[in-house]
Amino acid sequence: MTHVLSAVAWPYANGPRHLGHVAGFGVPSDVFSRYMRMAGHDVLMVSGSDEHGTPILVLAEKEGVTPVELVDKNHEIIAHELADLGCSYDLYTRTTTANHYAVCQELFHQNWLNGYMVEQTTRGAISPSTGRTLPDRYIEGTCPICGYEEARGDQCDNCGNQLDPTELKDPRSKVNGEVPEFIETQHFFLDLPALAEALGEWLDERDASGTWRPNVIKFSKNILGEIRPRAMTRDIDWGIPVPLDGWRDQPTKRLYVWFDAVVGYLSASIEWARRIGEPERWREWWNDPEAPSYYFMGKDNITFHSQIWPAELLGYAGEGAKGGEPGEYGRLNLPTEVVSSEYLTMEGRQFSSSRGVVIYVRDVLDRYQPDALRYFICAAGPENQDSDFTWREFVQRTNSELVAGWGNLVNRTASMIAKNYGEIPAAGPLQPEDEAVRAAVLTGFETVGDLISRHRQKMAIAEAMRVVGEVNKYVTDTAPFKLKGEDERERLGTILHVLAQCVSDLNTILAPFLPHSSNAVHATFGGEGQFMPMPRIEEVADLDDGRAYPVITGDYTATPRWESRPVTVGAPVAKPTPIFTKLDESVVEEELARLGAE
Ligand code: MF3
Ligand code: ZN
Repeated sequence: MTHVLSAVAWPYANGPRHLGHVAGFGVPSDVFSRYMRMAGHDVLMVSGSDEHGTPILVLAEKEGVTPVELVDKNHEIIAHELADLGCSYDLYTRTTTANHYAVCQELFHQNWLNGYMVEQTTRGAISPSTGRTLPDRYIEGTCPICGYEEARGDQCDNCGNQLDPTELKDPRSKVNGEVPEFIETQHFFLDLPALAEALGEWLDERDASGTWRPNVIKFSKNILGEIRPRAMTRDIDWGIPVPLDGWRDQPTKRLYVWFDAVVGYLSASIEWARRIGEPERWREWWNDPEAPSYYFMGKDNITFHSQIWPAELLGYAGEGAKGGEPGEYGRLNLPTEVVSSEYLTMEGRQFSSSRGVVIYVRDVLDRYQPDALRYFICAAGPENQDSDFTWREFVQRTNSELVAGWGNLVNRTASMIAKNYGEIPAAGPLQPEDEAVRAAVLTGFETVGDLISRHRQKMAIAEAMRVVGEVNKYVTDTAPFKLKGEDERERLGTILHVLAQCVSDLNTILAPFLPHSSNAVHATFGGEGQFMPMPRIEEVADLDDGRAYPVITGDYTATPRWESRPVTVGAPVAKPTPIFTKLDESVVEEELARLGAE
């Protein structure tokens, strides 16, 4: 048994989540975490809402609420969406907790003590008409690297490079179009060049493991070549105070939102340990060099996970060119794998609230089964290349794969058992075709498990569904529905027993992908209790300042093992209700009309 950290990207608390978000980080991280628990590992799965930063501030202003009111509302909304999707976080918290503030400040402070946070005078943008700071991402201009004309001050969406607003050609304010004025201001810069060698060694070692997706390791090594110091503080009044004398009390100097967000993985682990009353438990995932950590995100987050976060960790440990000592948390593990997905587009267009075409997770969950959405994302999501969500494909996959494939196998097996026995019958002697179908299903544990552990979820679910197809073929070939005579009763019982066993095993194999329906299938075949533990929302008090907020948590200790469990002869099987809902073709028109209307 290994301690496995599942570190899931922190959604911005700037509104409800759309399908692009949960396809990028939500579902893939949950499938992996559930599988790893089934494989016997001690998984700690953490995340939370990313609540600081300029966009939150600007949005709050626009809506006429305080940033706190805005993030309180959105955190609650997002937590419910993720819980309803079945994401099995040990803790889904938020970045505005007192615990998170303290952990971020400790990380910053030790980096500073070790010499990796360097104060520099820099030029910051202000709006000439209002005199207020103009945040990086509200400045637009031409990318100095690729020439893209709508690059943002913080990042170019075309070439993916991080930028500094002073580098943009023809800078202009996205708020009102005016040309920003750059004034002198003091900031702390993370001395990335002093950490570059250590980062390079870590990346080389990760590259040698051969486990990262080729695009991700290539991109990460590439940006190492362009490395330079990066500002880790901002002129803004919404964020975590800089923990140094002369800075702490300055109302408009705060830690950069990305400095704070990535620390969330650690602070959430610490919060989890404190909440279970074992405040040092988090160390099993962070201080043991044998404990692997997997980080799940969309590709626009790679830089922060393969460069900024590891640099913060190396600086904290004193492992850069300037030396130093680890702080009170000791030497913390760097990411084992940065598991990044590509983008999900919709109906051929890029998902983006600003560009108009958005399907919200909440709307899909209100109208369709959560596992239908999870299935689509696993089978057709942006794992290795950009992919497109269309309502036509959603309806088609739900009906022909989930309903007519897996659902049909479950239902006809249960119906035949209910009708002929009312309980799982005993098996007589097995025929070669019975042995063959059992072997095919048992092999599925190995093939599917191996693919999930290597983040090949698309192939994994395809392989699972291929085995479903083989079992459906076994039903056709053995035709148990034709066995009506008294002399055929033993053979009928054997086939139905074999089928019940195959369905039980396939339910285990599909459970990481389809946890909600795995519970329904389990119950259909007389199983007791829940098969796959589900997350829950819990209202908690802040550990330090008493404020109340909802978190996602859960007890996943009863997770079933990744193995075949012999079915119980005599377990009651009643006439089943279909596990999956067939979607009417009219759904496509209906949903497209909705999109058009918005
Ligand atoms: N909020 C960021 C986004 O939605 C992701 C932050 S991931 C974290 O793109 F690790 F920094 F938290
Ligand atoms: Zn560019």
